Amino acid sequence: MNNILKKKYITTNDIIVEPNDILKEKSSNVNLPLSKEDKQLLRLMYNHVANSQDEDYAKKYHIRAAVGIAAIQVGIKKRLIAIKTKSENHSMRLALANPIITYKSEQMCYLNPGEGCLSVEEGKYHGIVPRHFHIKVEAYNLLSNSKVLIEARGFDAIVLQHEIDHLDGILYIDRINKLDPDYKKEDWISI
Ligand code: NI
Repeated sequence: MNNILKKKYITTNDIIVEPNDILKEKSSNVNLPLSKEDKQLLRLMYNHVANSQDEDYAKKYHIRAAVGIAAIQVGIKKRLIAIKTKSENHSMRLALANPIITYKSEQMCYLNPGEGCLSVEEGKYHGIVPRHFHIKVEAYNLLSNSKVLIEARGFDAIVLQHEIDHLDGILYIDRINKLDPDYKKEDWISI
């Protein structure tokens, strides 16, 4: 059993920060139904994201605000991600196992002024990260205890692609144009 499962909470020290080769590794699918350990890990991950959005909690425990986390960021190579986003008209709450992107729009977008990640030091990199504007994802969601088909656009789609990238060993900084970090096509939507 990994040490993280002995904890009640994920702390800043548990999070692996680049450069670290672990973050480049590909994660493996988990068995369904989820084992007790995998459920526990997903809950820890989801709680970390939710707690990080509570200003007082985040300040007290020195954790960075986040909208998502992947298991590999705490050193566990399993295809598990947790996401909590909130926009004006809706919120997305996910604790996913084995997410698969089944549709990607040709329309691209990017987060303005740029993406962030718990595994990347704040302010270290700058650049535009191209993402599909509209995606569909199939997965098991622990929060609803069911298989789900998620349709996401804009910010939610960006967050999902960012977290699923982690499972394939890809960081957002890997997607920034090396020659011109500000490169974007005219029709890409700024989010
Ligand atoms: Ni990240």
